[in-house]
Amino acid sequence: MWVLFDLDGTLTQSEEGIWNCAKYALEKMGYPEPDAATLRKFIGPPLIWSFTELIGMSEEKAWQAQAVYRERYNRIGLLENRVYPGIRTVLRTLRKAGFFLGVVTGKPAGPTERILEHFGIRKYFETVHCATDASADKEQLIRAALPADFGEAWMVGDRKFDMDGGLRAGIHTLGVLYGYGSEEELREAGAERIACTPREILSHLCPDTEPARGAFLSMEGLDGSGKGTQLERLADTLDRYGYEVVRTREPGGTPIGEKIREILLDRENRGMTDETEALLYAASRAQHVRERIRPAVAAGKTVLCDRFLDSSVAYQGGGRQLGIDEVLRINEPAVAGTWPDLTVYLDIGHRQALERRCAASTPDRMEMEAESFHARVEEGYHELIRRDPERFAVVNAERTREEISADIAEKVLNRLMALEEK
Ligand code: TYD
Repeated sequence: MWVLFDLDGTLTQSEEGIWNCAKYALEKMGYPEPDAATLRKFIGPPLIWSFTELIGMSEEKAWQAQAVYRERYNRIGLLENRVYPGIRTVLRTLRKAGFFLGVVTGKPAGPTERILEHFGIRKYFETVHCATDASADKEQLIRAALPADFGEAWMVGDRKFDMDGGLRAGIHTLGVLYGYGSEEELREAGAERIACTPREILSHLCPDTEPARGAFLSMEGLDGSGKGTQLERLADTLDRYGYEVVRTREPGGTPIGEKIREILLDRENRGMTDETEALLYAASRAQHVRERIRPAVAAGKTVLCDRFLDSSVAYQGGGRQLGIDEVLRINEPAVAGTWPDLTVYLDIGHRQALERRCAASTPDRMEMEAESFHARVEEGYHELIRRDPERFAVVNAERTREEISADIAEKVLNRLMALEEK
């Protein structure tokens, strides 16, 4: 059983790069900037077709325009790209269900391979068949991609060229609506099935296979470590790479957890004992793990959690001096074996964190604690990292935002891609 995927509009959302390059080529060739509707149509068909049919160029001009386009595309355009959220789970789950996968695209081989490698999805495909200047016909490409005894095969794509090519090659066709073609276009071209989202590809092709497991990531750091900004940036990067990100936080993350959060952070609750505090954080976590984290990971999603168990160990164990092992013991029934696959620790000295905090906002109950409290929290984190260095990605957070986010992205992507190999 084989599933062949078109690239642009099916696996990757390449409009940013394609549009920038089309505009660049037209400008260099002395043509006016096309309107948005015309630009949209550039995605999918062979470039020569677009330049002749959409812009009205002669065949000769179209070849020149293609050369100009490719010059920018190969330098910059090809990485102005995103993998559709959920595609990674689709590819992994299809592999799990025993399908062989391929890419069949009107793009040339060089950029196609670079895009697939850059986003770390080349490994899922048995074969990658690309257009050459001599032939960009989908039927030919599909026939070339399949072995002689392919059995059942599907062409998945977002444009009529994909459906039509699949039909002519004698295989099944599945049109996707999240790309650049309309339902009408796909139906007219003979699409047998239609998927509105990447996930729906799975409902058509392997409805009984459990999705491949997602991942659980947490981010930790002292108050003032810049966690909020970095979570935002990491979520965006993961989204660009085709992970379906579920953002959540502790305390909170569920309706019950958010109520517990209010009690915990309320400045009026000065009389709260350290034990009550530790148990409330654990209670919020118990709900969160079962209601939100485990189901999302089981569905193939990537949970990105703002603080988790390590915060309790550092703040209640270290800061409140309940002891690391005691806090771990209290939390055992709450997490019951659910630990992050990777925890990003934003490493910043407690004095510098305090300076940033004071500059930023009015402190909540936890943030109002004395400097010695935050020094013990910092030490608590360091002890955790010493105990379990494998789970942590320690990132120096005393740098610029850009440097920090690039470092986090690299470390997290490496770990996620290693997990995908399992
Ligand atoms: P949060 O709102 O994430 O604060 P920030 O955005 O400043 O990081 O967390 C609220 C506070 O709760 C924070 O000071 C850390 C504290 N906390 C604990 O003491 N124990 C815990 O288990 C958790 C999850 C948080």
